[in-house]
Amino acid sequence: MTARLAHKRILLGISGGIAAYKSAELVRRLRDAGADVRVVMTPAAQEFITPLTLQALSGNPVHLDLLSPAAEAAMGHIELARWADLVLVAPASADCMARLAQGLANDLLSTLWLATRAKLAVAPAMNQQMWAADVTQDNLALLRARGVAVFGPASGSQACGDVGEGRMLEALALVECCAEQFETGRLTGRRVVITAGPTREALDPVRYLSNHSSGKMGFAIALACVEAGAQVTLIAGPVALPTPPRLQRIDVISADSMLAASLQAAAGADVFVATAAVADYRPATVAEQKIKKTADVIQFELVKNPDIVAAVAALPEKPLVVGFAAETENVVAHAREKLLRKKLDMIACNDVARADIGFQSDDNALTVIWPEGHCVLDKASKTQIARELVGLMADRLQDVMEGRVDK
Ligand code: PMT
Repeated sequence: MTARLAHKRILLGISGGIAAYKSAELVRRLRDAGADVRVVMTPAAQEFITPLTLQALSGNPVHLDLLSPAAEAAMGHIELARWADLVLVAPASADCMARLAQGLANDLLSTLWLATRAKLAVAPAMNQQMWAADVTQDNLALLRARGVAVFGPASGSQACGDVGEGRMLEALALVECCAEQFETGRLTGRRVVITAGPTREALDPVRYLSNHSSGKMGFAIALACVEAGAQVTLIAGPVALPTPPRLQRIDVISADSMLAASLQAAAGADVFVATAAVADYRPATVAEQKIKKTADVIQFELVKNPDIVAAVAALPEKPLVVGFAAETENVVAHAREKLLRKKLDMIACNDVARADIGFQSDDNALTVIWPEGHCVLDKASKTQIARELVGLMADRLQDVMEGRVDK
């Protein structure tokens, strides 16, 4: 369970109800499982538990107001909506569920609920008679129909003295429910190879040519593939990122070593995803000793590196090959050209001239192109974008497996 929630961003919405006291324990347990937690409280929730308690337990400021200039300046509600991987409302009171089902946006929590592309979940908590009321059940059905996960409620004795259904699940059970949200099973039994990060091409023992890739996009895709049930090999250039859980990581430095690792790992793989920013050229010779600073002008001869993704796409038993395109102009047109020239099944392009996405950023925005179509993935966290891309890859793989399209 712990591994599945490591580094997941959980936005916990707390609405007004006596079960709000259990949310404190829930925050602790989510953090124990490795999740980053931010808390949003409705005004009614603050009657039951203080923001200070939740701030101390979550390690982050608690978000209370929609219209507070100070809060908006710190982390605006749209930014918060984008930040989350999962929005869980626990406890979700009858009133809160009604407002979420109707799409009202009259406080911070209900506005975030509408503004996010993250997974959505509620943990209902209310008196058993309120839970059984037709209108509550209708609202619940509406939420479920829109893909909202419903955790619980449990049955038992209630704070009001009644006995019946309507108790919020205990913290540990809710943590398990959250973890389950990140398992899609779309790539169960599939083997996926991903390249990530930059390559370094040595000039001498201390200097190299490289680029700004941090590896974040490739690592997010690797994690999304693990969550989708795949067996993942992550071939990483030199990056400063921890290894995501439950995958095999192979560290490489240069394009040549990335090529060798890729060809070996791609044999028998179902999908190959080339997120790495491979240096297109390398110095023709590598000086044995540190180059001395004697000349005013120095020239280097560069030779073309092998094209890794094209080499994998040319394998006789090739996997489904998904490339990336990092462009600064005519993004989609250049990506289409690469899709055809490198004989890829799919290509995801991003505008790396933008400072808010692409290299280094925690966010990205992609246009994903395949021979018969395309899909725009609007700006979101790389974690979220990776999940959406993995969904498209799984669709494509299924089309290939069921003979609807060729690789
Ligand atoms: O790592 P981050 O900081 O998170 O940034 C993410 C990213 C911007 C690096 C990523 O989203 C991205 O765009 N990756 C592709 C970078 C790139 O090298 O693009 P390209 O257009 O130059 O290459 C096209 C494709 O060919 C890519 O799939 C690339 O991996 C592959 N290629 C390129 C050259 C080469 N010699 N071998 C290759 O396999």
